[in-house]
Amino acid sequence: MNIKACIFDLDGVIVDTAKYHYLAWKRLASELGFEFSEEHNERLKGVSRMRSLEILLEVGKMNKSPEEKEILAAKKNDWYVNFIKQLRPDEILPGVQKFLNEIRALGIKTAIGSASKNTPLILLRLNLAGYFDVVIDGTKVSKAKPDPEVFLKGAEELGIRPSECIVFEDAQAGIEAAKNGNMYCVGVGKPENLTGYDFLIPGFEDLTFKLIIENLKKIKI
Ligand code: BG6
Ligand code: MG
Repeated sequence: MNIKACIFDLDGVIVDTAKYHYLAWKRLASELGFEFSEEHNERLKGVSRMRSLEILLEVGKMNKSPEEKEILAAKKNDWYVNFIKQLRPDEILPGVQKFLNEIRALGIKTAIGSASKNTPLILLRLNLAGYFDVVIDGTKVSKAKPDPEVFLKGAEELGIRPSECIVFEDAQAGIEAAKNGNMYCVGVGKPENLTGYDFLIPGFEDLTFKLIIENLKKIKI
C-alpha cells in the first residue's frame, strides 16, 4: 500500500456546518408552515442543495414547481451564507489542522471533495484555503455522491491513482462514493450511523497518519 493523497469531505469532517444548514432549513420550513426537526436534518448530510430542498418538501408534504424550488433554495442559501460569513478558525473541528500539518509535512497531497457550492467561502473563513492542493466542490461536479465523480476528479487533478488515495467522509453517500471510486475510506462519526468504511474514527483528535495506515494495511482494495 502506497498512500500519496488524502481527500477530505468538508461539511462534518473539517467543520460542523450542519447546525447552520439546519437553522436555515428550519427557517424555510417554518415560513412554509411546518416543523423541521434535527432528526429530519440528519437526512440532508452529504446531500446536494436541491435534493435537500426536495427532502424538506417531502417532510412538509408539499409540491413546488421547478421555478419555485429555485427561489426557495436561493432563499435558504442566503440565510446559510449569512451564518457562514461569521465562521471563525476556532470552529475547525478538533485535531483537523494538526492532522493536515502532519500529512503535508510527510509529503502527502491534500484535496477537498465536497458537494457544497459554498466551499471557497468556508475555507476562506477558516483560513484553510492554503492547506489543500486541489479543491473540488459542488460547482465542479455534475453527479452527486454516491457517484465517485467528486473524488475521482480530486485524484485526477492531483495526478494520483484512486487506489493511492484515502477519503475522509462523515456521510453514508460519501463513503459509498469513495468505495465506488476504488479508494480507501475512513469514516468519520459513530458506528451506528455509518457502514461500508475501511476504518472508522470518531474525529481527528489524537489521530496520527501512522495509526490510519496501520489499520488500512489490513484491507485490500
Ligand atoms: C454538503 C452538505 O457538504 O453540501 C449538505 O453535507 C449540503 O448538507 C451540500 O446540502 C450542499 O451545500 P451548499 O453549501 O452548496 O448548499
Ligand atoms: Mg459531510
